Amino acid sequence: MATADLAVPPADGLRRDFLQAMSLAACTVAVVTTDGPAGRFGVTVSAMSSVSADGPAPTLLVCVHHLSPAAAAILANGAFCVNVLRDDQSAVSDAFAGRGPVPGGDKFAAAAWTPGAVGAPRIAGALAWFDCRLAAGERVGTHHVLFGAVAAIGTAGPGAPLLYANRGYGTPVPLPQTALGA
Ligand SMILES: Cc1cc2nc3c(=O)[nH]c(=O)nc-3n(C[C@H](O)[C@H](O)[C@H](O)COP(=O)(O)O)c2cc1C
Repeated sequence: MATADLAVPPADGLRRDFLQAMSLAACTVAVVTTDGPAGRFGVTVSAMSSVSADGPAPTLLVCVHHLSPAAAAILANGAFCVNVLRDDQSAVSDAFAGRGPVPGGDKFAAAAWTPGAVGAPRIAGALAWFDCRLAAGERVGTHHVLFGAVAAIGTAGPGAPLLYANRGYGTPVPLPQTALGA
């Protein structure tokens, strides 16, 4: 796909319809962090997906806006950590999304941290975390699609993931089980 094809914004109606339809696709919320020679940065993302559990290392991807300082830092540091937030961490999400003031102007003051295996900080109490080495990155329109080769993984339970849907935060509510084939 030629990048030039993506340089022209879609027609207003198509963009509006895209945002509306995407607001119905529920997501988990993660804070992607990095640290290293290019500095320490973090950004809230909903665009995070598993790519593959197999191969030399499990692989995931995140999409980060090209104007976010975290994107350039991840590309330069060559590593990042995906911190999957639990449903009581919406304030951490807001801090790393630039929503509202943070103590001392430092987003990192919004959470407690532990060092990660690739240099990127982990949120103490995140529901799950993935330490990644940057495997590949591609600019697609306004965003960098960043592929991470997972080097270390952790989970902390019990807890439920923070969800983002219908332009607001939520938590999963299990439906009654239905019998297969019923
Ligand atoms: C729930 C939620 C999900 C978001 N998902 C993304 C995303 O997937 N990618 C992205 O680039 N920005 C996403 N944002 C917006 C960024 O977090 C925000 O624009 C950014 O942090 C601004 O600060 P920065 O420019 O210093 O990075 C999301 C924001 C929220 C609240």
